[in-house]
Amino acid sequence: MHIQPLIDGVIARTAHPFGCQQSIDNQIAYVKRSKPIKQGPKRVLILGASSGFGLAARIALTFGGAEADTIGVSYERGPSDKGVGSAGWYNNIFFKQRAQQDGRIAINIVGDAFSSQVQEQVIEAIETYFEGEVDLVIYSLASAMRPKGDGNFWRSAIKPIGNTVSGATINLETQQWVESELPPATEDEIEATLKVMGGEVWEQWVDLLINSESVSDNFKTIAFSYIGPEVTHPLYLDGTLGRAKVDLHQASHSLNLKLSQIGGSAYATVCKALVTKASVFIPGLSPYLLALYRVMKNRGNHEECIEQMQRLFSDKLYGQSVVPVDNERLLRMDDWELESSVQNEVMDLLAQMDANNFKRLGDFEGYYNSFLNLNGFGLEGIDYSKKLDLAALYELNP
Ligand code: NAI
Repeated sequence: MHIQPLIDGVIARTAHPFGCQQSIDNQIAYVKRSKPIKQGPKRVLILGASSGFGLAARIALTFGGAEADTIGVSYERGPSDKGVGSAGWYNNIFFKQRAQQDGRIAINIVGDAFSSQVQEQVIEAIETYFEGEVDLVIYSLASAMRPKGDGNFWRSAIKPIGNTVSGATINLETQQWVESELPPATEDEIEATLKVMGGEVWEQWVDLLINSESVSDNFKTIAFSYIGPEVTHPLYLDGTLGRAKVDLHQASHSLNLKLSQIGGSAYATVCKALVTKASVFIPGLSPYLLALYRVMKNRGNHEECIEQMQRLFSDKLYGQSVVPVDNERLLRMDDWELESSVQNEVMDLLAQMDANNFKRLGDFEGYYNSFLNLNGFGLEGIDYSKKLDLAALYELNP
């Protein structure tokens, strides 16, 4: 069987297993030639380990100097009569193969991180493979819903708060710029988004680990956030997602207070805006991403998830006597994105960008390719015309 990209709006319906493997190998090669992580953690739990920032963090910590063993939790789809399975499924498989080849432990737990079953599996895996203790927990879930426990779900809604906001999205299927108007969220939608994407579940996970005496001396935990420049605020920071991120920041402070009593610490880590499976959904963010990619690539300081994570662990979180934070105690990996000279150029571009010129003015090619790469397509070194042996692929397990 041949596998071709099949895009439905902003969702990829297919993934190429060997493209995913190539992408993992490219990321491993990058961290191996980068500034190494010194005094890094050895036993790491990653919630949301199969794509985006979580996967990049896992690769950086395993191959970028720390030589960490990892337990990765993710919610991915294996092969079935509906298709070959999700990119994250194959990322889990091929990451584990490479980690084991380097003598590292890599455990994949595929299931709902909001469920007590997965919590139990993680605690058991920490006992079995990590001698009962973990040095770092990375909270990198990007989910659309969270079970309430009574058969119903909280569903996140990416909407403004208070006012209707208009913005453009790039439809990746038709490659067109689509203007849309987003009505303000209802109180229920605000609350639901906070329940799904806020800090509550991060705190629950860390509490669980503290209570089961599974955190080591110098334990750290991080969760990822986004703030962005003012132009994105109506839809992001001042909207439902931003409300959830502010909640996550508060969770970092209360966790830090709790952990400081046992020598640990917690940081909300503000990352750069990037094309990931989750971010292409955010209405209004795409034009900004197109302009940002163009400007940062021209300047030679564009980063993808892997560059962000290697820099986070080698320059900021480990090997320093003090972790550098801003006056709100946030760890800023969006420092290069928010430099005023970068933002001035981005705003100039955005002011000129419209439905007719976005491919030329913005880095549409880079944006589109990043999206293809997430799903194992558009990677150099892969012969996409080659037929795949599905039976052999279906034998693989994360
Ligand atoms: P992603 O979609 O690439 O990865 C999300 C991960 O969460 C995947 O491993 C997925 O399997 C896992 N997951 C989702 N629901 C799950 C569940 N119920 N149980 C277990 N695993 C589950 O997303 P991305 O972009 O890497 O996002 C991670 C975090 O980074 C999010 O909190 C996001 O807000 C934040 N962030 C993203 C930025 C961006 O531009 N993409 C910028 C700054 C922060």
